[in-house]
Amino acid sequence: KIVPVVLSGGTGSRLWPMSRASFPKQLWSLVSERSMLQETVLRGCSAAFTAPVIVCNEEHRFLIAEQLREVMTEKPSILLEPLGRNSAPAITAAALLVAQSDPQAVLWMMPADADIKNQTALMQVMEKAVQTADLGRIVTFGMTPTRPETGYGYIEKGAPLTGVEGAYVIRAFREKPAPDVAQAFVEDGGYFWNSGMFVFRADVLLAEMAKHAPAVLEHVQAAFEKRTTDLDFIRLDKDAFAQVPDISIDYAIAEKTDVSAVIPADLGWSDVGSWDALWDISVKDAQNNVLIGDVLTEDAHGCYVRSENILTAVSGLDDVVVVVTSDAVLVTHKNRAQDVKTLVDRLKREG
Ligand code: GDD
Ligand code: MG
Repeated sequence: KIVPVVLSGGTGSRLWPMSRASFPKQLWSLVSERSMLQETVLRGCSAAFTAPVIVCNEEHRFLIAEQLREVMTEKPSILLEPLGRNSAPAITAAALLVAQSDPQAVLWMMPADADIKNQTALMQVMEKAVQTADLGRIVTFGMTPTRPETGYGYIEKGAPLTGVEGAYVIRAFREKPAPDVAQAFVEDGGYFWNSGMFVFRADVLLAEMAKHAPAVLEHVQAAFEKRTTDLDFIRLDKDAFAQVPDISIDYAIAEKTDVSAVIPADLGWSDVGSWDALWDISVKDAQNNVLIGDVLTEDAHGCYVRSENILTAVSGLDDVVVVVTSDAVLVTHKNRAQDVKTLVDRLKREG
């Protein structure tokens, strides 16, 4: 059986003021009635999968446990990080946990913050991914790029992989390229976006960590060995985990490994990273507005307006984002939605 591993450690700062460190975006109902975390675990709820492993910050443990209880009866394993060290350490901890009972088990790493509309295609492609992972490969999924996005990883497709129809060797993986490089990749046509999901055997991932990011493996292993369990949670040791380098799986492994593969797939995938992206995938009214909550518009077009409790009216404006929460209001232009991160970084610095 395949082990779904959901990483839920990011804070999603571009979706401020909804997304906060204390209540990050993956726990909100942004795309559907369920939270993105719930939608993510449900993707891996079938006979082919074991109960999921969730890796998250200890601060979110009760919120996450509660959200999981709402959508599933099986008991997940919840691995708690004392602090965020990015995705490479998080997935290493999950691989160590799974390898205890079966080193060759196949893990399906999923970010908690993506939207996938085509579940049938996903399950078809997962079957191929598992075959490919069984061959000792670290498998990624190739999404067709539509713009020179610099926030994603780019995958250059190589020769077809012997043994699995539809899988390819990866010639190069480039995480978050500069704008001109991203532009060239999109024009080239031979590149895909990385979906952020990875499929691999536990032993293969750990061997690649040992090879390309030995300090990550060493310190995560120490934190795992000194773990404690309380209630339903597995806690990584704080002192050991504090020494783990902060690095993503994309930089630590995907850019470096020789054993990767890509399966191009049409999953209806989108990264729900910013307000404009959310506007993109949401249902719009006749004026092309996305209106959620207690909101009202007059002569406004292409806007995203969301308010929890306070009546919010937008008049005579196009392409703006207005998000009102109980303690903060964001007003920005839709094509400046990426810059919200700069604002949040400033808030963090200036308090
Ligand atoms: N447990 C845990 N701990 N999870 C974490 C941590 C951490 O410290 N840091 C990040 N994560 C989780 C996030 O919650 C998210 O689910 C996933 O790991 C990916 O992290 P992001 O920070 O969202 O990565 P990204 O969006 O910049 O880039 C990744 O996703 C893109 C597609 O959305 C990369 O894989 C790119 O190559 C990819 O294109
Ligand atoms: Mg992301």
